[in-house]
Amino acid sequence: QVFSRIAGTGSYLPEKVLTNDDLSKIVDTSDEWIAARTGIRERHVAAEGETTCDLAFHAATRALEAAGVEASELDLIVVGTTTPDLIFPSTACLLQARLGVAGCAAFDVNAACSGFVYALTVADKFIRSGAARNVLVVGAETLTRMLDWNDRSTCVLFGDGAGAVVLTADAETGILSTHMHADGAKKELLWNPVGVSAGFKPDEHNAGVKVLMTGNEVFKHAVKALDSVVEEALAANGLDRHDIDWLIPHQANLRIIEATAKRLDMPMERVVVTVDRHGNTSSGSVPLALDEAVRSGKVQRGQLLLLEAFGGGFTWGSALIRY
Ligand code: ACO
Repeated sequence: QVFSRIAGTGSYLPEKVLTNDDLSKIVDTSDEWIAARTGIRERHVAAEGETTCDLAFHAATRALEAAGVEASELDLIVVGTTTPDLIFPSTACLLQARLGVAGCAAFDVNAACSGFVYALTVADKFIRSGAARNVLVVGAETLTRMLDWNDRSTCVLFGDGAGAVVLTADAETGILSTHMHADGAKKELLWNPVGVSAGFKPDEHNAGVKVLMTGNEVFKHAVKALDSVVEEALAANGLDRHDIDWLIPHQANLRIIEATAKRLDMPMERVVVTVDRHGNTSSGSVPLALDEAVRSGKVQRGQLLLLEAFGGGFTWGSALIRY
């Protein structure tokens, strides 16, 4: 049997930080409201001209270095993103060129905030099937580029950032299982209403590109879907919820994270939380949290990690990993 082992992790956040107080000068909001409802205190915002590929490049470089793998040894690059630099080439192709290599396959996966879990799943299948040995998996976003800074119900929630892992074929251990789901019928609860084929709205700000969300509905669906997808991961491996060492959740809202932790009977000391400092970085959030937990020494080799995410689509998923 072949496993996909996480050989190295990396992440990158743009320099500029926007606090809740900064936001309260732009829209009618407050640090109290944002912190109480979401747990967010501040978020990073990409500089003008700084793109998703730039963030992905820094995260990828760090992950490759941590793994001791050269870019030339990669068989595949998968980037989870909803905010690609361009419509095409894919951000994965742009990243491949930035890494100074050519030849290996490279493509993007769009699953909104579940992008990294989806990308990780795809990469894992390639390794398990023997089609690839070394795969770079990235979650990278500049979601703030999509925001309507006059809409207080969405602009306070998101931030920019990227995380990456290098997966390597291993006979001993690694990703134990992955689980992906989607429900396209709920699209209007969380979506971007314009696009190349559907058409843009030239008269609107940003040609109509924005995040539309019915927050309280999304909240309910997220908690329910995450409950079922963490249970699914445990059942698939015959594990008990108390076996998990670390929960590494998508960072959208501290209350959603706490609900999942409660379901798993996990104390919050065993849950990696970055939402207070990163906001919701969509596909970037899970690998950013993972890298932070690895580099701070929290996550140790041999431990059992449960990753999960929920996002627009709806999409949701989980991955159970022996690190
Ligand atoms: N500051 C102050 N007041 C605000 C703000 C703000 N930034 N935003 C909204 N409000 C007001 C609303 O207008 C409303 O006022 P009203 O009662 O007078 O009408 C009130 O606050 C309550 O609004 P709700 O939307 O009901 O607040 P809720 O407690 O649900 O919190 C939130 C909103 C934080 C968005 C929450 O619903 C949430 O986190 N939802 C899930 C988000 C999520 O997980 N998304 C998935 C991933 S994202 C992706 O895939 C791209």
